[in-house]
Amino acid sequence: MSANITIALSKGRILDDTLPLLAAAEIEPEEDLKKSRKLIFGTNRPNVSLVVLRATDVPTYVQHGVADLGISGKDVLMEHGADGLYEPLDLRIAKCRLMTAAIKGAPRKTGRIKVATKFVNIAKRYYASRGIQADIIKLYGGMELAPLMGLADEIVDIVDTGNTLKANGLEERELICHISSRLIANCASMKVKHAELQPIVNNLAAAVNSNQ
Ligand code: ATP
Ligand code: PRP
Repeated sequence: MSANITIALSKGRILDDTLPLLAAAEIEPEEDLKKSRKLIFGTNRPNVSLVVLRATDVPTYVQHGVADLGISGKDVLMEHGADGLYEPLDLRIAKCRLMTAAIKGAPRKTGRIKVATKFVNIAKRYYASRGIQADIIKLYGGMELAPLMGLADEIVDIVDTGNTLKANGLEERELICHISSRLIANCASMKVKHAELQPIVNNLAAAVNSNQ
């Protein structure tokens, strides 16, 4: 008998790009994930279920092995840490950049700076690696407001088109890294349920390649 497989999906913007990849891998939810208030869904495969979570919670479910696979932004993974997680595939969806940004034309402050972000761990590592002393202020969204209100000198945030920065009179400063969404797997599941999981990973890899 096939082992049961649970796949944790990020709700929000990643979900739209995830569903066609899953369909190409022949995994189809039993109902429309975006119309339902349910959080757990059956699929066309009797042994495969999907759970739909806040993007930041996906690595936690996979790390603890209650989900075998998950789909997460690299930003979320870098912030969360990779303990117990294996990252078999770059899905090449939800591409964006993690950047520092500041008020357009503002001179760079020397010495200790204040940085607002929801990516506290990434920001701490980044500024430490550059030898910059930074006080990190945790926010949960709308980071662009922080420099405008004098809460911070810089922000660390996701940039795609740059429209949000521009609309708020900010500019890109340094690139921290390029981001895309990744397939993640629980390390123990990948061993114990290898026969069930490897074909899913392979099918998703084929779907990603045919997407390019
Ligand atoms: P939550 O609502 O749980 O706080 P979130 O607001 O970060 O999470 P989304 O906005 O749906 O959730 O973003 C999910 C992922 O999509 C991010 O982790 C990032 O990898 C990617 N992403 C975020 N913003 C953009 C963007 N503007 N363009 C492309 N990809 C993005
Ligand atoms: C993300 C990010 C930026 C914006 C960047 O915000 O935090 O604000 O997208 O995209 P752009 O460069 O194309 O303008 P999101 O829309 O997810 O809202 P949030 O601030 O609530 O996270």
